[in-house]
Amino acid sequence: MNKHIAYLPGDGIGPEVARVAKLTLNRIADLFGHTFSFTGGLIGAAAIDATGDPFPEATRKLCETSDAILFGAIGDPKYDNDPKAAVRPEQGLLTMRKTLGLFANVRPIFTLPGMNDSSPLRPEIIKDVDFIVIRELIGGIYFGKRGRNRDQTEAFDTAVYSVSEIRRVARFAFELAGKRGGKLTVVDKANVLETSRLWRETVQAMAADFTDVTVDYMFVDNAAMQLIRAPGNFDVIVTDNLFGDILTDEASVITGSLGMLPSASIGGKVGLFEPIHGSYPQAAGKNIANPIGSILSSAMLLEYSFGLHAEAASIRRAVESVLVDGYGTEDLAPRKLLSTSSLGAKIIKATTKE
Ligand code: IPM
Ligand code: MN
Repeated sequence: MNKHIAYLPGDGIGPEVARVAKLTLNRIADLFGHTFSFTGGLIGAAAIDATGDPFPEATRKLCETSDAILFGAIGDPKYDNDPKAAVRPEQGLLTMRKTLGLFANVRPIFTLPGMNDSSPLRPEIIKDVDFIVIRELIGGIYFGKRGRNRDQTEAFDTAVYSVSEIRRVARFAFELAGKRGGKLTVVDKANVLETSRLWRETVQAMAADFTDVTVDYMFVDNAAMQLIRAPGNFDVIVTDNLFGDILTDEASVITGSLGMLPSASIGGKVGLFEPIHGSYPQAAGKNIANPIGSILSSAMLLEYSFGLHAEAASIRRAVESVLVDGYGTEDLAPRKLLSTSSLGAKIIKATTKE
């Protein structure tokens, strides 16, 4: 298979972890006889510095003409404490998601062998955790009208969802649940929010078409608690943009480290693959960040964009075997501490065809 991948390392630790993911994909190409070519593009703070725009036209064109996008991380502290900054790095990511129509963000939450000690939760609670959060990614309060009153003493953000926006992401979640444990949990705040009531109404009307899936509805405050109390009870969660953002950071604690978790953003012509963690500026350039979230994102890329399941499985097996052997970066408090690049090299070396 011959594929072209847009390579957007971004900010902070993004370049360090994305580089490892790219090397992993090259290794898989060698092992399985594929050709993957990469073209780099600018996004985020790096793009603002170079062009003034966090998602430059050249990057948009590159993304639209590629078969998949491998992305690192976005954000720079020099913008975080300046609420008046006219352009922000995060706008690059939001614009990319929106422009490419990536309405479904797939965030799997799982525990891996050899990692029980890294989670602050008791082993019996995190045993058997294996669920997927589908976060709606291009609607809701992230993209609604926002502003301030004239004398700057009031601000507002608006959450808006249409039935068609809810249906397309809910359909994706129903189909996924049908292929997995057959259980779908809709997380909302329908006791307060009108958008949430429309979510419920819309999903309820769809449920009859998916008789193989059992649906339940949970308020987001309760869901935040259940994620920690009994995470093993979830199979597929579908939720809006903001709730999905918050709950997946929370859920990452189950795994032991935010650095472990990958994501796929799909729904448009080209999929986007990135770890769920941010740019972790304190660690940038130190070669200490955990590359596993990025490596596992490359596995999701192979699966979701290219349909290469054996290749993706090969990456997952390699990650597991290296963790079982006790290797890890410092966030995992491992028995055998490695740098970003050497943990990456170990995992790459452990990939096999069978
Ligand atoms: C994420 C991130 C982004 C989001 C930020 C960087 C804009 O936190 O992908 O979860 O809020 O969507
Ligand atoms: Mn987030």
